[in-house]
Amino acid sequence: MNARPEVPFYDTASPNTRSRYTRTAMALHWLIALGIIVNVVLALSADSLPDGWVRPVINTHKSIGITVLGLAILRVLWRFTHRPPALPASFPKWERASAHIAHILLYGLIFALPLSGWLHDSAWKDALTHPMSLFGFIPWPRIGFIMDQPPALKEHLHTLFGSLHTWFGYVLYVLLALHVGGALKHEWIDRHSVIRRMLP
Ligand code: HEM
Repeated sequence: MNARPEVPFYDTASPNTRSRYTRTAMALHWLIALGIIVNVVLALSADSLPDGWVRPVINTHKSIGITVLGLAILRVLWRFTHRPPALPASFPKWERASAHIAHILLYGLIFALPLSGWLHDSAWKDALTHPMSLFGFIPWPRIGFIMDQPPALKEHLHTLFGSLHTWFGYVLYVLLALHVGGALKHEWIDRHSVIRRMLP
């Protein structure tokens, strides 16, 4: 039997002898980061693309988003069963605390963004005539409960979830700036790399 002690989510008080994340945690981190960045670029460029490109680009955005949701589930399962290396004890307490808060919020967003997008898309009035498929190959369902609502309510939900999706995007930009900014501060100003912990 594995005798690893039970540690609650985000417990940093317990000592951790690892100096790096596991390979699986690294792979999930960078795949999700890539998916999110590509998705933001696709979504923000959709309006300025030629008409014929918009639908394929949005379909790719949806497919990447659902993939990110699947990876996010794996990531959280992995996180619950594999404790990450503790942040260096030499970092001030406020910095460790804010890093943890940012990480928890980022975990929330990797679910909130795809879920709000999926809800928004399920309330789309043309959803029935435009079935969703992942990368054009795998048929993917919309959320039936939302699709079954009367048209007026669906229209309202479409707008509501669309605004929520946009606002989650704004929160993401702020958190990403703090997350990347923090990592670069440790790299260049403190000269105490944390990026290396997430690199093979
Ligand atoms: C990694 C996950 C995702 C991220 C980071 C993301 C991000 C974004 C962003 C930043 C926008 C632009 C919002 C604005 O400024 O108004 C957007 C739009 C949109 N997203 Fe997502 N999204 C994700 C997942 C999804 C999913 C899973 C779906 C649907 C299944 C979806 C459907 C849409 C739709 C339909 C739009 C509106 C595009 C348009 O017509 O301009 N998104 N998304």
